[in-house]
Amino acid sequence: MTTATTILDPRAVVADLDRRLFGGFVEHLGRHVYDGIHEPSHPSADERGFRTDVIDLVRELGISVVRYPGGNFVSGYRWEDGIGPREQRPRRLDLAWHTTETNEVGLHEFADWLDEVGSELMLAVNLGTRGIAEALDLLEYANASADTARTRERAANGRERPFGVRMWCLGNEMDGPWQLGGRDAADYGRLAARTARAMRRFDPGLQLVACGSSSRTMPTFGAWEREVLEHVFDDVDFLSCHAYYEARDDDAQEFLASAVDMHLFIETVVGIADDVAAARGSDKRIMISFDEWNVWYQSRWNAIEGTQPADDWPVAPRLLEDRYTALDAVVSGDLLITLLQHADRVRSASLAQLVNVIAPIMTEPGGPAWRQTIFFPFAITSRLAGDRVLRVPVEARAFTSARFGDVPSVNAVATADTDGVSLFVVNRSTADAVEVAVDVTALGPRPAIVETHLLHERDASAANTLDDPERVRPRPIDDARLDGGMMRFTLPPVSWAALRIAS
Ligand code: AHR
Repeated sequence: MTTATTILDPRAVVADLDRRLFGGFVEHLGRHVYDGIHEPSHPSADERGFRTDVIDLVRELGISVVRYPGGNFVSGYRWEDGIGPREQRPRRLDLAWHTTETNEVGLHEFADWLDEVGSELMLAVNLGTRGIAEALDLLEYANASADTARTRERAANGRERPFGVRMWCLGNEMDGPWQLGGRDAADYGRLAARTARAMRRFDPGLQLVACGSSSRTMPTFGAWEREVLEHVFDDVDFLSCHAYYEARDDDAQEFLASAVDMHLFIETVVGIADDVAAARGSDKRIMISFDEWNVWYQSRWNAIEGTQPADDWPVAPRLLEDRYTALDAVVSGDLLITLLQHADRVRSASLAQLVNVIAPIMTEPGGPAWRQTIFFPFAITSRLAGDRVLRVPVEARAFTSARFGDVPSVNAVATADTDGVSLFVVNRSTADAVEVAVDVTALGPRPAIVETHLLHERDASAANTLDDPERVRPRPIDDARLDGGMMRFTLPPVSWAALRIAS
């Protein structure tokens, strides 16, 4: 057993919490939309064909905003294919994932689904195979209230009032050689700036996101951000970051250092953005939209990608259906802690993805829906997080990471609101339990622990499956206690926890 000490101080504010940090991501990919959220023959389906058991779970997850419809998919997508009478919608090849897109679900259906779920829509426009004109058409169709051909078409398709989409992504991962229409930074930067300026003529208040690098390991990382920002700095609000992590070579300890990579990623992008601002003599601060993040066993996908027969274009095949372990959940909880720690600059983030595809929620056609392990840290954090994010400086033993050197074994963040404080904390050590001692004297004379959650399994490879959907669940922390001005509790190795303290 080791020890860690820290302090909870409501005055140590990082920033007000932007709830868009608890965003999700739905892509037309595999069984995400079809046989995931939309399965008309399912016993729980509503009159529109949406699974209500999935809607209930998405609500429980606490997703604030959902990025749609991709991802790589958007770079070949014609949004017009997804509107109008369903029987007239075209079936198309999706070149991003080598599947057939039926277009049964498009903008209207997805917005209806989000109304049910209680989340906001964030749209991505296709800057891969399309350009400014199509982006403007979509914007007018979605958001205009004037009487135009587009808005009449929208009304004829069942929606009189505008969708009112505030946040727009200018393409997806345009730095990726895998991206349909991918391009270099100067080319993308110019296109994104022209598109942004045109979109702002319609509505200067739109929140626009330019593509940053699709990972910190891209050979163009850094140079891409700088060059894109030179073009779009005045015209966008956000630059995107994407990051996926996986355990390599069964090295759990190294995997548990993943959040350090995310931290460095954010710090580097913020540094470049502020450097570009300084060079222009500008006080403007570009924010980060971390609009794809998760654990993803991408190496498994890379091993099979491109092996489909050239003439096989299945509808809604099982793709990227990672089964998450307790270990994965601890890492994903730590990634969310890291996003919160950067709440002053990360103002939007999207867990990628939501249902069936690298997802917290799984479904079986005609069968049940269940929570994967990574569901729990997200749902609990989203529910307990208050209005302000607090810095939580931890003193704890470090372990050695091959990539990052000394890494603290305990990482934490907190939030505050009028009723108290919520603490989110992770023990990254694979070897040692840690006794955490938290100075809570700043919380007032009578703090009280009102709720605790611990995600830990003796077998860190335990997972929730169709046959055993409740195998991994958070439990209360047995030994959480207040002792004078100190709160104490034990975190077993490889564990994530949340505590709610009323003040
Ligand atoms: O989330 C899966 C894929 O990962 C997305 O389509 C793409 O944007 C990223 O490379």
